[in-house]
Amino acid sequence: MIRRISLNTNMENTENYSEIEEQNRYMELAGKELAELSGMLGRPLKAIVVTFGCQMNARDSEKLRGILKKVGYETTERESDADFVIYNTCTVRENANTHVYGRLGKLVSLKRKNPQLHVALCGCMMQEPEVVAKVRKSYPVVDLIFGTHNLFQFPELLYHVIHDRKRVIEVWEGTDKIVEDLPIERKYSFKSGVNIMFGCNNFCSYCIVPYVRGRERSREPEAILSEIRGLAKDGVREIMLLGQNVNSYGKNLAEPVSFAQLLERVCMIDGIERVRFMTSHPKDLSDELIRVIAEQPKICRHLHLPVQSGSTEILRRMNRKYTREDYMTLIGKIRAAVPDLSLTTDIIVGFPGETEEDFADTLSLVEEVGYDSVFTFIYSKRTGTPAAAMPEQVDDKVVHARFDRLLETVKKGAEEKCARFAGRTMDVLVEEVNKEPGYVTGRISHNLVVHFPGDESMIGTTVPVKLDDCRGFYYFGTPVLPDGKE
Ligand code: SAH
Ligand code: SF4
Ligand code: F3S
Repeated sequence: MIRRISLNTNMENTENYSEIEEQNRYMELAGKELAELSGMLGRPLKAIVVTFGCQMNARDSEKLRGILKKVGYETTERESDADFVIYNTCTVRENANTHVYGRLGKLVSLKRKNPQLHVALCGCMMQEPEVVAKVRKSYPVVDLIFGTHNLFQFPELLYHVIHDRKRVIEVWEGTDKIVEDLPIERKYSFKSGVNIMFGCNNFCSYCIVPYVRGRERSREPEAILSEIRGLAKDGVREIMLLGQNVNSYGKNLAEPVSFAQLLERVCMIDGIERVRFMTSHPKDLSDELIRVIAEQPKICRHLHLPVQSGSTEILRRMNRKYTREDYMTLIGKIRAAVPDLSLTTDIIVGFPGETEEDFADTLSLVEEVGYDSVFTFIYSKRTGTPAAAMPEQVDDKVVHARFDRLLETVKKGAEEKCARFAGRTMDVLVEEVNKEPGYVTGRISHNLVVHFPGDESMIGTTVPVKLDDCRGFYYFGTPVLPDGKE
């Protein structure tokens, strides 16, 4: 444990002294030290946050950026310009880890050039004791390590690194704490992720997330709604509610609230035009949720519903708690209630014991469902998960061949799906200017990407666009003027 310097002047009254106040004081202290350093150097200090992994990590990185900004760092896009580099890591598959080690090696020469440079690691990989041991021993370039459970402590840890000029390593095994109100620096002005829950209780047999993110904890609905109201006031039009299994939101709150009820309340907030959510576990997707999706026009016409495999036997061994038939029945119900919905999924190829027949079941499921897009993953053995100990790991060559076949099937199906919008005029929320000069890029409610002629002033606005030309997974279109002209 790090030594916590006593900022709390009212020690008898610790109950009333919140964690966020504690961290705010540390931000003040760190800010003073950094201002002095910047004065001495005669230049501003710069920081970069590099994100690996999922939307949860992306949202956590916005908190890290908010804190870094508050203590006085400017943002840079290049590690070579930075005085503070932090990698927010992912460990869901082995290649995510390898990537981080590769990049750490390169920071050594940067630190030689800039002795002020501090390097920090956080995120899911740091919840693995072997990783921390390896970094501790072999990567002296790293000054600070913390984990997913104590991200809120970043101001405090940062202060210690700067002030004590010592390496700080502080990783917690778990927590039941949710610290609200950390500063946040959003990547986009007009859209934002919002955590509704943390952790996961599902223990799918291949997955490391429950071990590195801890048990499921839901935020109070009022905290979520007030955050979203604040975002709406700040110009946010689209929000993405985030959780590993949003469908089980609220079950463990003192006053239980269902995810569908939360969605209905979110949709009532003025200024929010689009509501997305991720991720839905098929076993917990309720009829109530399907009804709310159908009824609420603000809820985007897109559902990400990871199936993982089309074989009931593999699903059983994955501990997914549904069969192929359950999944197909669910798809039938969803399609009946919301016919135009885009469906996407995640699939793992090469789970231990996957036979040719099991794999054929996956291919046929992909064809039957008709996904708009599929995220395909090669099974990666994660130490400590039940699947890692299963005897029949599938040969690499076989897995790669299956992976290629799956990609072919996915591509064919998704191109057909994408083409269904050709010629229609749909609302596009503009996200950024395109690399192609004179073009902007945005998304329709179904999450499909559209490029069309436009400029920077359109970012964050919703433009009706005629979808002219389908190029596989995206469109080129023409904006439609209010009088109906193109
Ligand atoms: N909570 C989400 C998934 C989070 S991880 C859900 O249950 O749907 C994102 C995706 O990574 C998973 O859906 C799965 O397809 C993939 N994944 C997780 N562990 C993996 C592993 N060990 N090897 C390969 N892919 C994995
Ligand atoms: Fe992993 Fe399963 Fe939890 Fe998703 S639901 S995070 S795949 S354990
Ligand atoms: Fe990766 Fe952690 Fe997300 S392991 S996928 S960053 S929850």
